[in-house]
Amino acid sequence: MDQEEMLARHRRVLPKWLALYYSDPIELVSGHGCRVRDSAGREYLDFFGGILTTMTGHSVPEVVDALRQQAAKLIHSSTLYLITPMIELAEEISRLSGIPDAKVFFTTSGTEANDTALLLASCFRNSNNVFAVRGSYHGRSLLSMSVTGNPGYSPSSFYPLNVSYILGGSRLRGPLAGLSDEEYCTRGVEDLRDLISNGVGGKVAALIAEPIQGVGGFNLPPDGYFGTIKDVLDEYGILFISDEVQTGWGRTGEHFWGYQAHQIVPDILTFAKGIGNGLALAGVVARAEIMDSLPGSSISTFGGSPLATSAGIANLRYLLDNDLQGNALRVGARMMSRLQEELAGSTLVGEVRGKGLMIGVEIVDSRQSPYALGASMVLEEARSLGLLIGKGGVEGNVLRISPPLSVTAGEADEGTSIVLEAIRRVAAKS
Ligand SMILES: Cc1ncc(COP(=O)(O)O)c(C=O)c1O
Repeated sequence: MDQEEMLARHRRVLPKWLALYYSDPIELVSGHGCRVRDSAGREYLDFFGGILTTMTGHSVPEVVDALRQQAAKLIHSSTLYLITPMIELAEEISRLSGIPDAKVFFTTSGTEANDTALLLASCFRNSNNVFAVRGSYHGRSLLSMSVTGNPGYSPSSFYPLNVSYILGGSRLRGPLAGLSDEEYCTRGVEDLRDLISNGVGGKVAALIAEPIQGVGGFNLPPDGYFGTIKDVLDEYGILFISDEVQTGWGRTGEHFWGYQAHQIVPDILTFAKGIGNGLALAGVVARAEIMDSLPGSSISTFGGSPLATSAGIANLRYLLDNDLQGNALRVGARMMSRLQEELAGSTLVGEVRGKGLMIGVEIVDSRQSPYALGASMVLEEARSLGLLIGKGGVEGNVLRISPPLSVTAGEADEGTSIVLEAIRRVAAKS
């Protein structure tokens, strides 16, 4: 069946708000390592990994074997029964989380993990007041949308939480533009204190924050920012929820979790994406007193399934045994320095930023304003040159480059050359 017919069928039966990349959308049908193939037989370097999810690469034999072996034994039982791989993975994640006396609850998506974190925080604190960060993205349920500071992804107003947004997000424009790291932290803390004393009535349950905003366009605050913010939260007993859905598992290179750049330990941490390498595996980690504070009982039909957790264990083992965090640090630095150097004079680029294998390139027009069309054009050019990358930013103008953590230096160089060539081509047309 040709692509046009597939697209027509897609549009007929799937929601119109389900975004598709490219004017001529593609279907990926196979993959190996960092490379994927589409249904027309074209090969691409995959530097978006299905939204930062293919963490160790496509078709990693260890992960595929674990999946195959478990599928042949038992696919499903539900949390009403003991599940050995779920217990083993929870033990491993509890140990890795850095949270003392940590317990883990598995879900099937980052959205559901954040919903659970917010539920725990509101029960533990007996409050539905929550702080979130401007420019954030935390999922697509009513609860997670209510803490999403990105109007394009938070289109309703019928939300169950009472949310106030602290400063964060872009450093190129808005109230934090042009500030030094120190000024940024001071400004953020002053604003938070003002919000607490002049804004919110009643106690506040938690702040939910991404250490580096993912969908928001790889915006990163100065290292230590959330440490200064948490000092204020601690004065009031307000919990800190670190949404590590994109920043977890060593993707930032220098740390295993994004929160570690801020010299804090969160009260609650949420994870998803990379741990399952594409399987529906996510969850929430919290100190036992918080995790166990939920009154009543609960179940999960699919969360922590034998299939997903078996694959998750194999995937995590592969990540740790091959020091993919170290690889993210080395290869990410190599890509970042070349992109920063070669794009320094580009009229199309406002900033190259990020950490490890989370690299954002902000595309701007001649007035330095967000240029979403330009970013889409770069995506199309990159695709035609054999590279898949992503897009983000509240304005949709930030390229997101985030290959699997197993990417080699050679593949990184090849992909970086394509990004540079794609930007050059779009700059020549703009
Ligand atoms: C930081 C962050 N939190 C939560 C989510 C929601 O995860 P999911 O799409 O698995 O529901 C995402 C998804 O992109 C995310 O980037």
